[in-house]
Amino acid sequence: MENSRQFNNTNIEIFPIGLGAMPLSLNGRPDPTQAHAVIEAFIHAGGNFIDTANVYCMDESEVGHNERLIEKTLSKLNQKNNIHVATKGGIKRNENNWIANAKPAFLRQSCEQSLIDLNTESIFLYQLHSPDPEIPLAESVGELLNLKNEGKIQYIGLSNVNLEQVQIALSITQIISVQNRCSLFDQRSFNDGTVEFCEKSNITFIAHSPVGGHFQHKQLTDNDSLKVLADKHNASPYQILIAWLLNKSASILPIPGASKVASIQDSLQANTIELDKDDIYLLNRF
Ligand SMILES: NC(=O)c1ccc[n+]([C@@H]2O[C@H](COP(=O)([O-])OP(=O)(O)OC[C@H]3O[C@@H](n4cnc5c(N)ncnc54)[C@H](OP(=O)(O)O)[C@@H]3O)[C@@H](O)[C@H]2O)c1
Repeated sequence: MENSRQFNNTNIEIFPIGLGAMPLSLNGRPDPTQAHAVIEAFIHAGGNFIDTANVYCMDESEVGHNERLIEKTLSKLNQKNNIHVATKGGIKRNENNWIANAKPAFLRQSCEQSLIDLNTESIFLYQLHSPDPEIPLAESVGELLNLKNEGKIQYIGLSNVNLEQVQIALSITQIISVQNRCSLFDQRSFNDGTVEFCEKSNITFIAHSPVGGHFQHKQLTDNDSLKVLADKHNASPYQILIAWLLNKSASILPIPGASKVASIQDSLQANTIELDKDDIYLLNRF
């Protein structure tokens, strides 16, 4: 596979696999030294796109934890200008609950706080974390457009949306990315046509939880058929899952999460795996 892809609708070249930074800030997170090492290893292996969100933290008292951690690490490594950081707004943390709040005023307040936490004048990619069932999607997207027009964000993305919602947003403004849960184990975005639509519309489809999810990955990757394929390619089951996504579409950007250096180093190697027709046939039968 190629070592870089253009982020659709931009002239930005990115490594085909990004880093999902969420495990660095949730329950069970590594200490700051290890978190720093994970980001450093990702960059060292060629990665240049990091996904975060203001609500990646333990609870409401430390909103912005993940953004501040990324900012601090990139600053220390003198890599702020080389790494593209995408964040999100539109969810409110309340202890263990994640509640959609994509009202314009809350989105604006969240975005302005993210600017401070990321210590930047303009966020590369600001994603609506989730549509808010309480208000029309057009109102949320309209506010993101206002923030873009004010220069606070460079590009707008969506997350946790269906095809109809992507189309509504596109009728208001340019959307450069759609981020949904997507893996061999969760193929809803293939089945409802969202991935195909993104590909045709030149929108990057960011596959979150690409190896099954932060808390579920172990029981999912411990699968005999997956292990057989992994052995055939001298790879890990995780690499096979990521390679499967890369093989599906050149518009897909998987963002595996990691709290260990070994995990992200392993995941980035997925780019070197060439699955053949028999492998794809086997995987599609899962
Ligand atoms: N938009 C949304 O609503 C949303 C929701 C969920 C996630 N996300 C984004 O998507 C990213 C990824 O999702 P996720 O973290 O939930 O799930 P995931 O990427 O499917 O799984 C992450 C876990 O898998 C393990 N892992 C990944 N690659 C591995 C490898 N090569 N070898 C061994 N272990 C490996 C990691 O373990 P270790 O911790 O042991 O390294 C990590 O904790 C998040 O970090 C976040 O940025 C977005």
